[in-house]
Amino acid sequence: MTIFQTARLLLREFTPEDVDALAQVLSDPETMRYYLAPYDRPGVEQWIDRNRHRYENDGVGLWAMELTKRQEVIGDCGIILQEVEGERLYEIGYHLRRDFWGQGLATEAALACRDWAFTHLKAARLISLIRPENLPSCRVAGRVGMTIWKEVTWRGLPHHVYSIERAQSSVP
Ligand SMILES: CC(C)(COP(=O)(O)OP(=O)(O)OC[C@H]1O[C@@H](n2cnc3c(N)ncnc32)[C@H](O)[C@@H]1OP(=O)(O)O)[C@@H](O)C(=O)NCCC(=O)NCCS
Repeated sequence: MTIFQTARLLLREFTPEDVDALAQVLSDPETMRYYLAPYDRPGVEQWIDRNRHRYENDGVGLWAMELTKRQEVIGDCGIILQEVEGERLYEIGYHLRRDFWGQGLATEAALACRDWAFTHLKAARLISLIRPENLPSCRVAGRVGMTIWKEVTWRGLPHHVYSIERAQSSVP
């Protein structure tokens, strides 16, 4: 199911057939350097399963990011419910295959996710949980209009909670 399109990208729900394409993203040690470890193949399969459950239960999840002109999955971007200090918040997340970095693709997807979320969800705020040393991700959050709201220890590691409120966005 297609969620939305941007100038260069199509965002759609993942299916189990996407495992090879997604493994090129989530099994790359460099791409996953800010996580505990890259995913092995069963881990990528479970990751897809988890997000398919999120589509059903939460109406959102991390979606496949397809480069329209190549009809190829090159990453993920989407929205997931996270619990931060006892509060359930919608988070924008993104991971991109390394050979596509630096072309503004994550920013393009995240901007569209932000607008989709404020249009379709009753969320007052969107967040992104980012390790402070993950500068490219911090830049993407900044370009989406997010600023650092607070600092938390999340899954045992210090994280910036980037945030944008509905009132700050262009969506009423
Ligand atoms: C974060 C990520 C999705 C960005 O993807 P991308 O398409 O290359 O991002 P964009 O091209 O839209 O923008 C990247 C920004 O980071 C900046 N950047 C890139 N590498 C950088 C570095 N080493 N140090 C500082 N800034 C950097 C770019 O200059 C750009 O900012 P600008 O447009 O203001 O100049 C990609 O790096 C990635 O997949 N990283 C690994 C997964 C990850 O950490 N996800 C986020 C978890 S919170």
